[in-house]
Amino acid sequence: MFLRYLLAIIALARSTTAVSTGDSIKIPRQASIPSGWAFVSCFIDNTSAGRLLTVNSGLPTETMTVEGCVEYCISNNWAYAGVEYGGECYCDEVLHEDGSQETSSGDCSMPCTGDAFETCGGPNRMDVYWNGDLNVPSSPSPLYKSYWTYSGCFVDDTSDRTLSVQVEPPSNSVSPPTCADTCAFYEYNTMGTEFGDECWCGNNTGSAAQVADSECAMTCNADRDFFCGDANRLSVYVNNVPQETYSSDCLDLNVPSWLNISDFTLYATPKEPPTSSGGYEGSALHIIDILVDGDTTFSLISACQDCNVTWTGLSFSGTGAGYLIPSVSNLEGAPPMLSLNLVAGISVLFQTRSTIPNDLPDYPNFCTVANPYPEGSGYSPTDGPVLTGDYHADAWAICPNISAVPVNRLDLVSQPQPDHPNYNVEECVPVDVWVHRTA
Ligand SMILES: *[C@@H]1O[C@H](CO)[C@@H](O)[C@H](O)[C@H]1NC(C)=O
Ligand SMILES: *[C@@H]1O[C@H](CO)[C@@H](O)[C@H](O)[C@H]1NC(C)=O
Ligand SMILES: *[C@@H]1O[C@H](CO)[C@@H](O)[C@H](O)[C@H]1NC(C)=O
Ligand SMILES: *[C@@H]1O[C@H](CO)[C@@H](O)[C@H](O)[C@H]1NC(C)=O
Ligand SMILES: *[C@@H]1O[C@H](CO)[C@@H](O)[C@H](O)[C@H]1NC(C)=O
Repeated sequence: MFLRYLLAIIALARSTTAVSTGDSIKIPRQASIPSGWAFVSCFIDNTSAGRLLTVNSGLPTETMTVEGCVEYCISNNWAYAGVEYGGECYCDEVLHEDGSQETSSGDCSMPCTGDAFETCGGPNRMDVYWNGDLNVPSSPSPLYKSYWTYSGCFVDDTSDRTLSVQVEPPSNSVSPPTCADTCAFYEYNTMGTEFGDECWCGNNTGSAAQVADSECAMTCNADRDFFCGDANRLSVYVNNVPQETYSSDCLDLNVPSWLNISDFTLYATPKEPPTSSGGYEGSALHIIDILVDGDTTFSLISACQDCNVTWTGLSFSGTGAGYLIPSVSNLEGAPPMLSLNLVAGISVLFQTRSTIPNDLPDYPNFCTVANPYPEGSGYSPTDGPVLTGDYHADAWAICPNISAVPVNRLDLVSQPQPDHPNYNVEECVPVDVWVHRTA
């Protein structure tokens, strides 16, 4: 093998545009790389300063081609691919250039071990290919719309974990946003990503040493736009959710004067804004009919935006507390409805008033309390009060309802419960329910 490289180097000395395959001179042809990818240049790979592309593919060095290397880097989500010394393949998200390392293409003239008609860099020379993705991780990478803030790069130790609980985000796609959402779900306020694809949760980093951010330089396998720690290094984020202080009172006085309590709509916002994409981000709530049985119609409160809405507003039966009453009906002559008693784990249900027994005791389980968030927390989409149910303002969630039509309809649930036949509690998003005056 060495002899072959030697021949190639000798050939290189003779000509910079042709390579020797042993007995004849061949003109190298352009590798046919996937669309979107392009050849960048021949670079000096100054290994004493750290490799230009740091991730060694480990592909067999005897059968290397440019296509094979680029395919490998694509399948592992890297933005750069580089071939070197005829048979080596490296990938990375960024070029770790130590000054200007670009050099003349004549330096990259070694035939690829798997296809002698292609060139695969040279001794300490790398042919670099790139997919054109300019999105590189910044350090620290801030999380979108989140209370999680970057706290630093911390040392981890396999025999004494800095954050003790390892979790797997859904579909095992570890990145700071998905790790944050998963740790928040398990009620931890500190999370760290490590070694490209690990997610760890805890409540503090204890006595672990903080080191330079540059030591957390491994991009996440699942999302190359973020760093996910490194070997024994955690990229740590801490959750700074504003403190809520709900009033336990449920009085008329808590209803602001501008609010016409006999005419309002509801709006839900996640308590913990989802940091990964695809989460519920808040919406208007609607009262939708789910069942008609003779004279009785049953309805519930849902965040479904495509469902038929028959009731467009709400009021309280009392002066600021009591049943919820859908106040506006789109149906001619439809009988008014009342909210049913709130039960933990199920939807907020309504039933046609005419079919509810007259002797139903007054059950003032709905009212409002003032916006629970401190001023300036940036977390009050309205100045309005929030809805309470059974004196809880903090027990609402939006849950994808697998028994509903349309399937995964986002229904409002009070105190979601595990092992419920209609939803998976892990998919419920805790929300605040804001009371909006109808214009
Ligand atoms: C290689 O990197 C080292 C360390 O950064 C530097 O001193 C040296 O000049 C570099 N060599 C070349 C050829 O760029
Ligand atoms: C972390 O903090 C949360 C909220 O304070 C608490 O419920 C949980 O038990 C704590 N977990 C650990 C492992 O200390
Ligand atoms: C409040 O709602 C009631 C009932 O819908 C209506 O009669 C009244 O005019 C409204 N008041 C204001 C100030 O909007
Ligand atoms: C909405 O109402 C229309 C007309 O009554 C009906 O055809 C349609 O199936 C309804 N859609 C849903 C999602 O219930
Ligand atoms: C889910 O959908 C079913 C069918 O519409 C309904 O009976 C139930 O109340 C809904 N909500 C929950 C939380 O189960």
